[in-house]
Amino acid sequence: MQIIKTIKEMQALSKKLRSKGKTVGFVPTMGALHKGHLSLIRQSKNENDVTVVSIFVNPSQFGPEEDFKQYPGDIAGDLKKLDSIKVDAVFTPDDKEMYPEGLTVSVRVGHIGEILCGASRPGHFDGVATIVARLFNTIQPHRAYFGQKDYQQSVVIKKLAEDQNFDIDIIVCPTVRETDGLAMSSRNSYLNREQRKTAAILYKTLKHGEYLIRKGVEDAVQVKKEMENTLKSEPMAKIDYIEIVDPRNLDEVKKVKKTVAVCLAVKIGTTRLIDNLIVD
Ligand code: PAJ
Repeated sequence: MQIIKTIKEMQALSKKLRSKGKTVGFVPTMGALHKGHLSLIRQSKNENDVTVVSIFVNPSQFGPEEDFKQYPGDIAGDLKKLDSIKVDAVFTPDDKEMYPEGLTVSVRVGHIGEILCGASRPGHFDGVATIVARLFNTIQPHRAYFGQKDYQQSVVIKKLAEDQNFDIDIIVCPTVRETDGLAMSSRNSYLNREQRKTAAILYKTLKHGEYLIRKGVEDAVQVKKEMENTLKSEPMAKIDYIEIVDPRNLDEVKKVKKTVAVCLAVKIGTTRLIDNLIVD
């Protein structure tokens, strides 16, 4: 497994692979790798000749009050996991490599980055789109893999690729969950035992929303209200949002008549967790 730290070296490798006719799959991550990340990597390995994983905790997507400083990191453990599943190359730049002059030219996402998670995390999706664009230009993959877990992020990245003419297939992979349904996340490590037990309420709430929709309840306000009641059964869980949106453009849905994305964000203690289900 090659470990690459500079943009120049990474671009050279990609150029070499492409000139040999190899397909390159790319999985961007912020490290602290878990089974969710590994499932994306497996899918990339199945669909491409070569798989590149990046590990970079991107400062520009964290707000000033957020967890950038304490974001979990275990580079030695991550590299071991990546080596054992036979990833071809890992790109691990430092801040200076990705932002040599701080944040200069950046990508502005607009409306789809300002709703849902963007409403309580202003600038977050601009930071995500900026780093992903820089990574795309560095790795130059044929395909890039993202998790459904961060559904809004996947929609933003698809729009980024479309609007900026990146010739890259954006592939969205299913959410990997713990046995009680909690979506795997690097941030789950912030939860103490009691909070971790409480966190199962996110999936339970989503499943209740799915049940109501499948039963034929079309009024989104009613579905959201009942989901809110389910969530409130755990007083430790504080709702940031529960929304039912069009999965293509994240527009609010008032009457559920076709496929929707049911999305929520919840705070347990100081940890903010997100999850979603696509219901068709
Ligand atoms: P990170 O949170 O490390 O996630 C990297 C990728 O793994 C994302 O595409 C995310 O959706 C996916 N992922 C996380 N948990 C998952 C789960 N339980 N099941 C399936 N996929 C899961 O998302 C980021 O990093 C960053 O914003 C990044 C795209 C790397 C840009 O900095």
